[in-house]
Amino acid sequence: MASAKRPAVNRAGPARRPAPRRAAPAPALVILSRNAKLYSTRRLVAAARVLGLHPRVLDTLRCDLLLERDRPRLFHRGVEIVPASVRVVIPRIGASITGYGLSVVNQFDLMGVPVLNGAAGIGRSRDKLRALQLLALAGLAIPRTALCRYRDDVPAAVELVGGLPCIIKLVRGAQGVGVMIASTMAEVTGLLDTLWTLGQEILLQELVKESRGRDVRALVIGDEVVAAMRRTARAGEFRSNIHRGAAATRLELPGDYARAAIRAARVVGLEVAGVDLLEAHEGPMIMEVNSSPGFEALERATGYDIATRYVEHAAAFAARTHKAPPGPR
Ligand SMILES: Nc1ncnc2c1ncn2[C@@H]1O[C@H](COP(=O)(O)OP(=O)(O)O)[C@@H](O)[C@H]1O
Ligand SMILES: [Mg+2]
Repeated sequence: MASAKRPAVNRAGPARRPAPRRAAPAPALVILSRNAKLYSTRRLVAAARVLGLHPRVLDTLRCDLLLERDRPRLFHRGVEIVPASVRVVIPRIGASITGYGLSVVNQFDLMGVPVLNGAAGIGRSRDKLRALQLLALAGLAIPRTALCRYRDDVPAAVELVGGLPCIIKLVRGAQGVGVMIASTMAEVTGLLDTLWTLGQEILLQELVKESRGRDVRALVIGDEVVAAMRRTARAGEFRSNIHRGAAATRLELPGDYARAAIRAARVVGLEVAGVDLLEAHEGPMIMEVNSSPGFEALERATGYDIATRYVEHAAAFAARTHKAPPGPR
């Protein structure tokens, strides 16, 4: 019977030809994303493919981490991802999985793999209050913002941010979901009581009235604003998030807005950032800095190929920052 089994012992005779050595596959550009079908993920994959950068999407929640002495390891759907197989990681971490996502990003970092953006910057951007503290300290204009945790202190805090109506915001909200407006003190205290009971951290903020449901989104990559748009809220809505139905139009960003956006990304520690700015009477005001900005609306509004810039920057960043192999540090 013909057997595929090899003999256990090498018989004497002509030496067997060694198996041809396979070249190691080129390192991949890894995109951490919950869903490969999302617009921005698809666009990054397509752009990386065109540039010959071997894209690979890893589901963030299917990345399992192993911690042991001197050797951080990571498995995707049970298969180990070795550091040499990854050129760079682009984390696209949704707000709902920030904690787990940051652990995965940190693990890649410990493995010596370049990550764009890094965990520290993502973490700062997800805490709106922390980000605003850093922005304000850096001399950037922000809407006046207050934090308090006692009902009795609320009226004074409202006064400090400019009185009623005022904005109430979840410290960890996204896509406009956690942003509210309150017109009476009873509304403010009622909302705060409810949200505090639900365990939410809340900030109070000056309503920048002149923005009237409009804001500016600037996409910073490296040291540049690569594209910008004005977002206009739909009728009856003050939040100008695309997810809340806002319309987007291309914008040639004035120099002071571009400089503020670039500085904001730097201060928070992000290579790629979607910076939200309000057009206040006194000039650009930074509202927040997003670390995994979607860019569907921006590409559609500007016709600009953002995905290619994004992956080109990731590859250049990787070449610049390639780290020592993993081991004790
Ligand atoms: N202080 C403010 N004054 C006026 N409008 C605001 C203010 N803060 C937020 N908004 C509106 O709400 C939207 C969402 O706020 P933002 O802080 O960016 O939170 P999110 O993370 O949910 O996008 C903004 O795009 C803007 O239209
Ligand atoms: Mg926003």
